[in-house]
Amino acid sequence: HGTSRINRQGHLEIGGCDTVELAKRFGTPLYVMDEEMIRERMRSFVKACREQTDFAFRVAYASKAFNTLAMCRVVEEEGLMLDVVSEGELVTALAAGFPAERIYFHGNNKSKGEIKRAISAGIGWFVVDNFVELELLQQVANSLGQVARILLRVSPGIEAHTHSYIQTGQEDSKFGFDLASGQAFEAARLSKKMKGVQFEGLHCHIGSQIFETEAFTLAIGKMARLAEQCEQAGYPISILNVGGGFGIRYSADDKPLAVEEVIQAIAETVKREFRFAAHQPEIWVEPGRAVVGEAGTTLYTVGTVKKVPGIRKYVAVDGGMTDNLRPALYQAKYEALLANRATETETEVVSIAGKCCESGDMLIWDIALPKVKQGDILAVGCTGAYNYSMASNYNRLPRPAVIFVNKGEADIVVERETLEDVIAHDRIPMRLQKQMV
Ligand code: LLP
Repeated sequence: HGTSRINRQGHLEIGGCDTVELAKRFGTPLYVMDEEMIRERMRSFVKACREQTDFAFRVAYASKAFNTLAMCRVVEEEGLMLDVVSEGELVTALAAGFPAERIYFHGNNKSKGEIKRAISAGIGWFVVDNFVELELLQQVANSLGQVARILLRVSPGIEAHTHSYIQTGQEDSKFGFDLASGQAFEAARLSKKMKGVQFEGLHCHIGSQIFETEAFTLAIGKMARLAEQCEQAGYPISILNVGGGFGIRYSADDKPLAVEEVIQAIAETVKREFRFAAHQPEIWVEPGRAVVGEAGTTLYTVGTVKKVPGIRKYVAVDGGMTDNLRPALYQAKYEALLANRATETETEVVSIAGKCCESGDMLIWDIALPKVKQGDILAVGCTGAYNYSMASNYNRLPRPAVIFVNKGEADIVVERETLEDVIAHDRIPMRLQKQMV
């Protein structure tokens, strides 16, 4: 993946940095992000979009996948827009100097405070999820004397998952205005009558880890019919956001689409389905995982190794579901190698356990590795998306550090939490302090 290779010492190297050295210098568990690869992935989306010359395209990064100050700097430098889903993600972007007008706000339950903050900051757009939010948004915008530009989030009745999609009349989802029942059109109609909002377009996001262009093209077909209805009613759309969800290769079984292929399919479908339109809409895509997923590697130190005779060998590492919740939550599959002995060919099958007090805290079942022993450095690949961003302090484990590596340089982008950090927000009520010495 990316700039990874095996160096002369037989160590895994990423971004020109020896990962065994990184583990020594920064400690483990450690999230290592390949900055060059992140930039390349962004550029591949931008380039594929630019090659579709019939359209104006814009690429946004879905920051929920991995959002830190340094990451926002990279997104800014690469010229992408930014999708945020909370005040926390918004504040991170603003603190990094990300231009507010290139940010838009997702989410199914934006608070009044969040909306106020975003409008005051001069955010580009809101993706409005439901009728309650639409009303709240117009109220807040009016009270601030502003007009909020909006896209409507539509639930189009297509659900895509890894290697499959289903089409339903209605989508039973907490997100978005239902298309089939006419809610989405009703929202467009209502928003046109409101003073504090300006209706500009439609959005749909049909799922994650998608491997077929059909899921996108079907959804676009449905969105086009809604757009046509809107245009006939006198409110044409200028933006069509088709969401994210572009699949990546976690393991050899995953066969992701080439970025060019999926962008081309999207462009061709929009061209075909929007023949009715006086003006073709701008197309937006908002990948998260496809930008950062493969660029991340987590380094762990191996601790205990135990054999259940005749059944299995457990290799425990110094992290687990606290830094990578995905195996426990989604049965997600990961691949790994021994960073300090990456060239050894004699292997045995082991299972990688986390250190949390929970049987489900297993990172990888049945993987072939060289004979693993205490002190080895295990590198788990493809951990750039939804790992750091979903990390927790379960069992009061401090969250790991995050570093960017690039051309032989390694920089901290998130400091490792300390045990002081872990207890920093705890308070002892007076009546429980009496017995303390
Ligand atoms: N846009 C919207 C409106 C979304 O809800 C999402 C993801 C994305 C874009 C980015 O999707 P991506 O390109 O990253 O697949 N925690 C889960 C994934 C949750 C995705 C939620 N929404 C995981 O670890 O797989």
